[in-house]
Amino acid sequence: MENIIVEYPYMDNEHVALVRLNRPKVLNALSTDLIKELVQALFELEDNPKVRSIILTGNDKAFAAGADIAQMVEASPIDQLNNERYRYWQQIGLISKPIIAAVNGYALGGGCELAMMCDLIVAGDSAKFGQPEIKIGTTPGAGGTQRLTRAIGKSKAMMLTLTGEMISARQADEWGLVAKVVPAKTLLQETYNLANTIAQRAPVAVKLCKQSVNKAYEMSLNDSIDFERRSYYLTFASQDQKEGMNAFLEKRSPEYKGN
Ligand code: CAA
Repeated sequence: MENIIVEYPYMDNEHVALVRLNRPKVLNALSTDLIKELVQALFELEDNPKVRSIILTGNDKAFAAGADIAQMVEASPIDQLNNERYRYWQQIGLISKPIIAAVNGYALGGGCELAMMCDLIVAGDSAKFGQPEIKIGTTPGAGGTQRLTRAIGKSKAMMLTLTGEMISARQADEWGLVAKVVPAKTLLQETYNLANTIAQRAPVAVKLCKQSVNKAYEMSLNDSIDFERRSYYLTFASQDQKEGMNAFLEKRSPEYKGN
């Protein structure tokens, strides 16, 4: 792949994989090829039974500075409609394993939207988030107005999308956009620790828990609580539930197999 680097296993841990966006000269601008490669890489990791959690990152200067403006400047609406990138983009939502965005530097426009597509965001303290599309005469088009509003509320989302201004990692933390802020230099280590902790949990329960949390954004409270309860019942069909509870009672560490 030209625009993506996959490290699996990551830090010698066969349950954790790292996917790095790799177009540093253009601050990881999200070209169609990059999105295609990213989706291909994520599906390979999804299909690899050893992988239990995935880290998605960029470099020190940028997670991603948005969709590739050079690729879209002359596009017509029909070019946009027919562009395969949106079909690929949607498929990121089909990954059942947890994806953690590790963000240093800029996460702007499509880059911020990509980070928000992940299950949680860990930010280095120099990270900057924003939806600057308004500054270049357009609007977010890959979930920015919707996911940002759900994450930080209407008034703050309006402020960010209407001004196009960026916010710091600390601000993003205070507003609930990110799970935590860590020193930029230790971002990957801290994110790895989190990914490894998740990878040690029962994989079936992790997938179901991810689905349930996501339903909070998509369904009424009654329906999503019903969904949650059925997912909880379903864990009792797994060997890992028996292993987890027996290990607790026997005062030993569980050994989860993902079934
Ligand atoms: N697309 C294409 N190229 C980009 C890019 C992008 N989104 N962001 C940066 N680059 C390129 C620059 O053109 C520049 O290339 P050259 O060296 O060939 O000139 C290179 O990356 C480095 O960028 P800068 O020189 O601008 O770096 P800087 O440190 O001075 O500024 C920045 C950094 C503030 C992030 C600035 O690059 C910037 O504002 N980028 C654009 C951000 C943006 O508007 N993103 C939204 C895109 S639209 C979108 O994402 C739509 C959607 O939601 C679907």
